[in-house]
Amino acid sequence: MAGAVRLEPVGEQNLEPLLSVAAAEAEPDDVMPPVEAPAGWSLARREAFREFHRASFGGLDGPTRTQMFAILLGGEVVGMVRMTRCDQPGTVETGMWLGRSARGQGVGAAALRELLVEAAGAGMRAVVAETTRDNPGAVGVLEKCGAKLRDEGGKVHAEICLDSTPPSR
Ligand SMILES: CC(C)(COP(=O)(O)OP(=O)(O)OC[C@H]1O[C@@H](n2cnc3c(N)ncnc32)[C@H](O)[C@@H]1OP(=O)(O)O)[C@@H](O)C(=O)NCCC(=O)NCCS
Repeated sequence: MAGAVRLEPVGEQNLEPLLSVAAAEAEPDDVMPPVEAPAGWSLARREAFREFHRASFGGLDGPTRTQMFAILLGGEVVGMVRMTRCDQPGTVETGMWLGRSARGQGVGAAALRELLVEAAGAGMRAVVAETTRDNPGAVGVLEKCGAKLRDEGGKVHAEICLDSTPPSR
């Protein structure tokens, strides 16, 4: 991996770089909810991407209960990782994506470790995630970060307990 992985809250200052990486190196479905817009990275989808991220500028206590972070590798934006408050107190759900050229080098696992530090700092006790077995990258990242995995109904439910696994930088 070239350079250190850092997280930076998503805001106006890194939104356009984040959009550029998404449009150049990711599928819309991997990075944002579906919207009615022409296929691919149309102007309408780019604007929806901006609005989707702006909606979470309020962080964990804002309307979406979500804190989004740009993932920086060697100072360059390469993807996004988020945490969203769950109904269960002290628990956040996470999700992430990386541009294609940043995948498969350990960046995902390093970014999730940083997210665990952020979650612990926000007073959380557990980080959960949901994925599927046909996403070995996501399953691998979760396993490397010490998640307990449970298969149910075609989904993989992951839980990382912050009390028993202090995140290491
Ligand atoms: C999922 C994603 C974030 C993983 O990040 P990544 O940086 O590629 O993953 P890492 O390099 O840290 O890999 C961690 C482990 O996962 C496994 N892994 C990663 N990519 C894999 C692949 N394509 N096939 C099989 N195993 C893989 C390996 O065990 C790896 O451990 P190792 O480095 O010791 O071999 C990235 O692939 C991505 O952005 N995918 C598209 C969006 C997405 O699917 N997000 C998750 C939705 S639930």
